[in-house]
Amino acid sequence: MIVLSILFGLFALTAGQTCRNLPLYARCSTNPDCGCLPFSSVDDQSGICAYLHLNPTKLRACNEYNYYCDQPYTVCVHHPSLATKKPLCYPTGMASLDICPPLDHSWTSSETTTTTTTITTTVTSISVEELCANVSWSQVGKTVAGSNFTGNATNQLRNPTAILFDSKTDTLYVADTTNARIVTWHIDADYGMLVAGGNGNGNRSNQFEWISSMVLNPADGSLIVCDARNRRIVRWYPGVIDGEILAHNIYCSGLALDKQGFLYMTEFENQRVTRWTLESNLKFDSIVAGNNGKGNRLDQLYGPMNIFVDENQTLFISDNSNNRIVKWPKGATEGILVGNIRYPKGIRVTSSGNVYAIDSYYSRVIRWTPNDVNGTVIIGEKQYTLSQPTDLDFDANGNIYVCLYGKNRVEKFNLDKNECL
Ligand SMILES: *[C@@H]1O[C@H](CO)[C@@H](O)[C@H](O)[C@H]1NC(C)=O
Ligand SMILES: *[C@@H]1O[C@H](CO)[C@@H](O)[C@H](O)[C@H]1NC(C)=O
Ligand SMILES: *[C@@H]1O[C@H](CO)[C@@H](O)[C@H](O)[C@H]1NC(C)=O
Ligand SMILES: *[C@@H]1O[C@H](CO)[C@@H](O)[C@H](O)[C@H]1NC(C)=O
Ligand SMILES: *[C@@H]1O[C@H](CO)[C@@H](O)[C@H](O)[C@H]1NC(C)=O
Ligand SMILES: *[C@@H]1O[C@H](CO)[C@@H](O)[C@H](O)[C@H]1NC(C)=O
Repeated sequence: MIVLSILFGLFALTAGQTCRNLPLYARCSTNPDCGCLPFSSVDDQSGICAYLHLNPTKLRACNEYNYYCDQPYTVCVHHPSLATKKPLCYPTGMASLDICPPLDHSWTSSETTTTTTTITTTVTSISVEELCANVSWSQVGKTVAGSNFTGNATNQLRNPTAILFDSKTDTLYVADTTNARIVTWHIDADYGMLVAGGNGNGNRSNQFEWISSMVLNPADGSLIVCDARNRRIVRWYPGVIDGEILAHNIYCSGLALDKQGFLYMTEFENQRVTRWTLESNLKFDSIVAGNNGKGNRLDQLYGPMNIFVDENQTLFISDNSNNRIVKWPKGATEGILVGNIRYPKGIRVTSSGNVYAIDSYYSRVIRWTPNDVNGTVIIGEKQYTLSQPTDLDFDANGNIYVCLYGKNRVEKFNLDKNECL
């Protein structure tokens, strides 16, 4: 696992190459540790040029019926060092051009051709307000994850606490907390796929004990998770069967990742938010908010929970026990009040600077525009319409997803396009 961690630290961004008409596991890169791993699902000898030496016992097997991997950022391939013939879900991050640079043409023999098809990905960053002048949302949610009954089946959730929508793969990630697992639901799916945990509550490296927050690292598809009651921060790469512990002895209640790759972490008991560099490991960088004791002065926090960081590294904090949202611009020594709500939780800020947060006391979603400290209720006009909401997120079309802890579901509230005409 240690070796694996170091290698994963080399993960680079989004591109990779496919290979065709090469012998099984043949060299396909200037890096001799890369080889052509054949796709399990096709017979034309094509595959992906990837780093060869991941420990296969740490990877999940592909779906045995259709030989696909339902998890984002993985691909079903045959692997040379596996004793059994079972194909495995391989993280596409291990096929990046940085890890496996293409062979230059002088090296390639005349019979072998390496086609370089770039695996492209686009991150859509939207401002819902740009889609629509007078934006509003359906007040009736549609269940998009979970079902009418709670449980631990693949179509069920039990007390989800956090969600995130990955527009790159059109996938909703759900922290299914009492089931101690993280599952992904593709758009229109009737059931979820396990991506982390699923081994009951506990403190083993394949378990969780209360997931309070998670972020997806777009560089490699890994999930960084606050495993709060285990007082640790763990990382799960796509396809692996256990997590890697990045930090200990912190009761973490919120996570955010900025464009520069810094990880922000709410330290609930220390009344502060800290910043860390996220690479092959997690290194402390600085304290960015609070750390002045428990209290309601603007330089203090009280029970801080969810956070969001914008493109200018301004931090938005659900200062839960202070019943307020505050923002701390980069380098600030005290916060600025965004608005007051009872027990704020999940928070998102769109690129036009509007702040959306969960009012967990009255069970609704509130929005503040930059010049409005009062805020507007946008979902759940009547109090308690939603059932113990904990978190929210947007997709690329401006629809809102709300995680309903008390209803054991995630509901989607469609952007009302009539208002946009
Ligand atoms: C937005 O809504 C307000 C109040 O309902 C209305 O006065 C205004 O004309 C609307 N703007 C647009 C662009 O529809
Ligand atoms: C869940 O409940 C709703 C409302 O009672 C019903 O319309 C829907 O068919 C139910 N879904 C399932 C899968 O039972
Ligand atoms: C799922 O729930 C059933 C019934 O409550 C239980 O027997 C089983 O152990 C649970 N499975 C897991 C992985 O928690
Ligand atoms: C994990 O939990 C077990 C049982 O509760 C406990 O004995 C053990 O000390 C824990 N390990 C760690 C690393 O916290
Ligand atoms: C970030 O800062 C730039 C330059 O000051 C500004 O134009 C932009 O609006 C800011 N972005 C946000 C989201 O506040
Ligand atoms: C906010 O609420 C106060 C008190 O109800 C009111 O006086 C003020 O006009 C409101 N501000 C806005 C921007 O709506």
